[in-house]
Amino acid sequence: MPLDLKRLVAGRLGENYELHFRHLNRTLVEVQRIIGFDRVYTRASGAWLYDAEDRAYLDFLSGYSVYNIGRNHPALKRAIQETLELDLPNMVQMDCSLLSGLLAEALLKKMPSHLDAVFFCNSGTEAVEGALKFARAATGRAGLLSFQGAFHGLTHGSLSVMGDAHFQEGFGPLLEGCVRVGLGDLAALQRELESGRYAALIVEPVFGKGVLYATAEFYQRAQELCRASGTLLIADEVQTGLGRTGRWWGFEHWGLEPDLVTVAKSLSGGYVPCGAVVARRWIYQRTFSRLDRCVVHSSTFGRNNLAMACGLATLQVIEEEQLVARAESVGAELLDRLTALQRRHSVIKEVRGKGLMIAIEFHEPRELAARMGWKLLHRLEPELFCQMLVTALLTRHGVLCQIAGHGMDVIKLIPPLVIGEREIAHFMAAFESVLEDCRTFPGPIWELGANFVRNSLRRLPAVPQEPG
Ligand SMILES: Cc1ncc(COP(=O)(O)O)c(C=O)c1O
Repeated sequence: MPLDLKRLVAGRLGENYELHFRHLNRTLVEVQRIIGFDRVYTRASGAWLYDAEDRAYLDFLSGYSVYNIGRNHPALKRAIQETLELDLPNMVQMDCSLLSGLLAEALLKKMPSHLDAVFFCNSGTEAVEGALKFARAATGRAGLLSFQGAFHGLTHGSLSVMGDAHFQEGFGPLLEGCVRVGLGDLAALQRELESGRYAALIVEPVFGKGVLYATAEFYQRAQELCRASGTLLIADEVQTGLGRTGRWWGFEHWGLEPDLVTVAKSLSGGYVPCGAVVARRWIYQRTFSRLDRCVVHSSTFGRNNLAMACGLATLQVIEEEQLVARAESVGAELLDRLTALQRRHSVIKEVRGKGLMIAIEFHEPRELAARMGWKLLHRLEPELFCQMLVTALLTRHGVLCQIAGHGMDVIKLIPPLVIGEREIAHFMAAFESVLEDCRTFPGPIWELGANFVRNSLRRLPAVPQEPG
């Protein structure tokens, strides 16, 4: 009897959190329960998720920016079906598959012409690992420079250039020779680069954590300093790439010419993992420098047919649906409306972003009642205020989004690039309603925040003991 997946899903739907608690990450389950995110979604389309009662949820998270073209895009489903129907030989390894050649060709057409060699892998962190290795092999240097607050992935190499100590705690020792400087701190950057120790400077064109960026002058100068010191510039476009910021690549905002670019997340549209490193040919060849080094860096599933077919379909959808221009115009509209809202709500400190990568930053409101609530929550936990808003958005208004980083008062919006007036109007109505609720303290919305604390004290189990 072949697996009857439809029956299996229908029969066991609703056991999701129980199964995860038992067999997977139970700490995550605890957190999802505490913050009211323990929903069971049953289907998805475009920018919308649906639960078993067919309640709609607006997805302003996009699976951490995986769904630039929206969820379950028909063109992607067709590409998968056709790949399966073709019965192609997959991952023969000792051959050169057609689809990986075609995706490399298509991807390079979207890059500046000086980038002309592609390496395929399976995730963002793997792309970063690859770029760091290519840079070391190309320069013969060990040092790796990055920015405080940056996020580059969670395997050991990526973690070593990570700019957030929270993610590093408990996993050391990390790679030697990794140094971080403040974003915008030109003097520190210059001092480090002039030492001549660094293989690469890695930069997210727009920070995923906090949606932060420096001035174009800073990035330009950073690039000049890299060139002068023989340090390669890596643009980590894992989140900012493929139209997210209203340009094909985030580095275009700053007029940069990176030596290496990392791509993942939206590259294959959301069904199968896919990542890529795009590089100057000479850099690439320094890794694959001799016949016996032809597979010195590789990954078994790296060029698999489904990922490659999905990549081709995704690039075509972005092009045909003009999603890059759409991200720019719809993002500008959303930013405008949020800026207008800021004038009515003193708790909004700033709205900023590029395309459809937007941050709403908060600070202590002027109104007495709301100020009391703000102070109370911040005394308990720095991110609690934003988490309270995010939970209210989901549980009361069916809007899914996220807080933007540790110790920040920032909510981040990264919806699929396919959104339009309907989605913007829905989000704005929900967000405004939540902000209005904040004016009443004590009140139900503030109670949500206090409940997180009560529930987490009650529910989180003590650290499990080692067996034996
Ligand atoms: C800029 C950046 N680099 C790397 C990564 C790691 O990607 P992955 O989670 O696919 O390993 C992420 C993930 O959020 C990212 O935002």
